Amino acid sequence: MTSSPLRARDLPDAPPAIPGAAHRPPFVHFGPGPLTDALAGVPEGDVAGFLASWEDLPADAHLGTDTPYRFRRYGKFRLRPRGLEQLPHTAFFQDASVNRVNGGVERLFAPLCPAVAAGEPLRRVVLALGERLPGPRAGIDTCGVHQIRVVATVNAEGHPAPEGVHRDGHCYVAQVLIRRQDVRGAESCLYDPERRPVHRAVLTAPLETIVLDDRRVLHGVSPVRPAPGAGTGIRDMLLVDFFGGA
Ligand SMILES: [Fe+2]
Repeated sequence: MTSSPLRARDLPDAPPAIPGAAHRPPFVHFGPGPLTDALAGVPEGDVAGFLASWEDLPADAHLGTDTPYRFRRYGKFRLRPRGLEQLPHTAFFQDASVNRVNGGVERLFAPLCPAVAAGEPLRRVVLALGERLPGPRAGIDTCGVHQIRVVATVNAEGHPAPEGVHRDGHCYVAQVLIRRQDVRGAESCLYDPERRPVHRAVLTAPLETIVLDDRRVLHGVSPVRPAPGAGTGIRDMLLVDFFGGA
């Protein structure tokens, strides 16, 4: 495993939700504490199964590369007060104005496995993230859940965000690190609307999280490369998009 000078204990805890506080910073970055707390009481085997599900992600067929380096599943849910209601599986769409690589194309990713979609770990994590949005929650009733693995080898780096500095086209986006193994790089950076960096971080601790207001900041992630001496590096992420459903 690689290490980083950025450690979870140096990170601030997530602030409590403050509805209507549009003046708040456009992102929060917190260590593993809040999501660890959210998962407290869930049977250990259920959490282990949730984390192990990243081992079973099909290749992203929309990458356009000969050798896949990104693997993923996707699901969409209506947010309920204490739970998630899974919506019919649909393609994931981003407007060409926000994604210059894959925008304007309906990308049909593999669905989440039923055990993940209906599992208590995902419900707990999504509800906890929904309580830590960096801005008003009004009108946010839907979320998209992406399980993503990016693999890098000595011959081919992995690109978490091949579109470069971008917006996702949602209201809020949560970026949760699940696993970082033998990885060099993958620095997350947030930018103001003038594309000036406002926050840089290397997510290193499992469940360390950034939640950003996709309307107020842009984001990007530098390429994933194997750590020195390693043949392969793996970076697993849970991304949760929050938005208002149609
Ligand atoms: Fe993104």
